[in-house]
Order: sequence, then C-alpha cells, then structure tokens
Amino acid sequence: MHAFSPRGPLRGTAHVPGDKSISHRALMLAALAVGRSRIEGLNDGGDLASTRAALQAMGARIRTDADGACIVDGVGVGGLLQPDAPFDCGNSGTSARLLMGLVASHRIRAGFAGDASLGRRPMGRMAAPLRRIGARIDGDLLPLAVEGLYPAIPTRHVLAVPSAQVKSALLLAGLNTPGLTEITEAAPSRDHLERLLFQFGAEIESRDGRIRLRGEAELEPQRLFIAGDSSAAAFLAVAASVVPGSDILIPGVGVNPTRMGLYDMLREMGADIKLVNQREHSSEPVADLIVRHSALDGIDVPPEIAPSMIDEYPILFIAAAFARGTTRASGLAELRLKESDRISGMAAGLAAIGVRVEEDGDSLAVHGLGGGPLPGDASIDPGLDHRLAMSFAVAGLNARLPIGVANMAVVHTSFPGFLSALDALAPE
Ligand code: S3P
Repeated sequence: MHAFSPRGPLRGTAHVPGDKSISHRALMLAALAVGRSRIEGLNDGGDLASTRAALQAMGARIRTDADGACIVDGVGVGGLLQPDAPFDCGNSGTSARLLMGLVASHRIRAGFAGDASLGRRPMGRMAAPLRRIGARIDGDLLPLAVEGLYPAIPTRHVLAVPSAQVKSALLLAGLNTPGLTEITEAAPSRDHLERLLFQFGAEIESRDGRIRLRGEAELEPQRLFIAGDSSAAAFLAVAASVVPGSDILIPGVGVNPTRMGLYDMLREMGADIKLVNQREHSSEPVADLIVRHSALDGIDVPPEIAPSMIDEYPILFIAAAFARGTTRASGLAELRLKESDRISGMAAGLAAIGVRVEEDGDSLAVHGLGGGPLPGDASIDPGLDHRLAMSFAVAGLNARLPIGVANMAVVHTSFPGFLSALDALAPE
C-alpha cells in the first residue's frame, strides 16, 4: 500500500516517458524495415517490453545502446519468422491487437496470452476483419492463436467502433497484403501509425476519414525521436491544476490533435495550461507544457470527444472532483472494456474518498467539491489498471486524510517513473 497525502505545491520540471502508442508502432515498423533504425525516447514500460519480445521472437534484432537508444535491425515486410512460443502480452491490449494484425498476413502461426485483465478484453472486433482477410483465429478472447495467410486478401473496412487499435491492426496486416487496404473511420482516432508509415516510405494516403495503404510496401529504416506521452503527462497536469500554488513544466510532450481531448476539456473547466516551444519530432507535433494551479468548474463532456481522450477519463474525473459544480460525461461504453471497467472503478473509488457520483449505463456524473481538499481516508485497489492507480495517487495530493493505493507497481505498464516524477515536483 502506498499512501498519498498533500506535499505542498508542485513546482519545477518533470519528465514523462515516450508516448506508448507511438512507441509500439515505431518498434513494429522498425522491425519491418530493411536495415537498421535508431529510436530515441522509446517508452520504457511493461507494455513495450511485451511488443519488443514478440518482435524479437519473429526475427527482429533489437537492443538498447549505451545512450539508451533502441537499435532495431528489421527483417523487411513479409520477413517475420515463425515464433517458437506464444507471445506473453502481459497487460498490453495494444501489443496483442497490433501484433495480431502483423501476424495475420504472414504465413506464420502465433499464440497470444496475457494477464487476467487482458484476458477479459474483447478481441472479436479485431479478429472479425482479420478473418475476412484470410487469417484463422481460434477465439475472441485471449489466450488465442492466429494463423496468418500469405497472400492475404486486401480489405475495405468501415470501423464501427472508433478504435485506433483496430485501424492500426488492419493497416499493419495491409503492409504485407498485395493491393490496397482501405479503412474508413467515422470519427478520427489517433493517427500515429499513418504518420509513421508515411515517414518510413509506405504508399499511404489519408483524407476525410479514409485511409488507403498499398501493400507489399518496402519500408526504409529511420532515426526516430519519440514524443513524450500526453496520456502520462495528463496525471501531472491535473495534479498541478488541483494542488494550490503549483506551477510546473513538462517538456517535450506530444500534442497530436487526435490526443488532446483532456487538455481541451481541462481548459474549458478553467485550467491554466500553456503549450510553448511548439516543434515537430518524427512527424509528430511536440510542445512544452506549463501548468499552474487554477480554480476549476464542472462541465458537460460531449461524447464526440471520447476518441481523443479515451485513456484520460479517469484523471478527468479526479479533476472534476475538485471542480465547482457537476461534471457529466456520456458515451463512455468503451471505458468498461479497458484495463478495468473504468466507469465503475472510478465511481467506486471516488465514492470511497468522499466524492458524490452517479453512474448510469455509459455515463458518469461527478459532483465536485469546489477546490478541495477531498475527504480522502480510503484505500483504493486499482487491480491491474495503471491509470486508476495514478488517478487516485493524484487525488491524494489534495486530500484531508491520506488516500492509499494498493499495488502502485502496476504503473510500470506505462509510466515506470511516475513516483519519481511526483518526487521531482514535490519531494516527500
Ligand atoms: C491505443 C488506442 C486506444 C487506447 C489504448 C492505446 C493505441 O484504444 O485506449 O490505450 O495505441 O492504439 P482503442 O483504440 O481500442 O480505443
């Protein structure tokens, strides 16, 4: 159990790890390029370790050099080898789903397993379109096996649920599929793979929600620098917003518009967040974030914004607990399918620390306490959900009595340095 309680204002500079979504994709494309890529700033969490091990098992050579950069010798599109053992995807939905796409268009068979959380997450949304291109997949939940087909059948797919993971899995399958793979999405989801594919030299076009990729691509190795993770920075940004007197800098954060929903909502609530020194790293917009404490007001969070802040609802609900008035969010069905059921997990945790909430189907209302401190005095078990653990840790920084979080080790999934980042801003 780790207890979180007020430590005074958060001040100074804190660093976040490389963006998890971009890191998975960069590693996969480097593994498929012909020759040596160098990736700086790769996310160092458990999810990336799963992707890395799977790519190595399929023949890519990956090592970390003395400066911490990741050096990848790719096998070339179509060159993935038969792995000896099932992939252990741990807690990582992105590893499982994107690797399923990669395997689907190669003549190899791979088993996929994961932890208890991943075993409950739906794979059917991925499996169904991958079966249409010719892959054989023996289940819709992990553990399962994918037997790929080469040459696979090029597909035209309309995404029913806005999911960057489904989109990315199909594009990755399309890389080794002769002809055109075409995907249409009604609402834009994170476009990191499209940007990287373009940079690696694939023939890809993305316009008005329609993405076209020409298969049997030849990818050229790259030198990449991964932007800081805006989803990790979100925890620090909310911490600074809700702890009086705070004033922090988070350098080098990715500010891709498909990921900025939380920051837009926080600003609408009255948060003081500035993006300065805007630049570009490896096809992604990056900025330094300056966040100062500010009074927040409750808002209505429109359902359309969900794809651009899907991982940030837990920490948004913590911000809402400190706001004046009620914050209502709806259209959250996908939140029940993440590393945990994040609607009921957040509702139960908030109630336990003295915040009034109403959970109703796919919506949650949080009645803010107007600036805090929150009552606290509870222990939260985040299960296997890293984002729940970090959310309640932040809540404890402005609570009358401590908030305990069991199993903080779970943050290793995405943000191993979370506690050190907090210490850098406010030593205990
Ligand atoms: C991710 C996409 C999102 C997100 C996940 C990472 C990605 O999932 O929740 O943490 O890297 O593509 P969905 O695309 O299923 O919404």
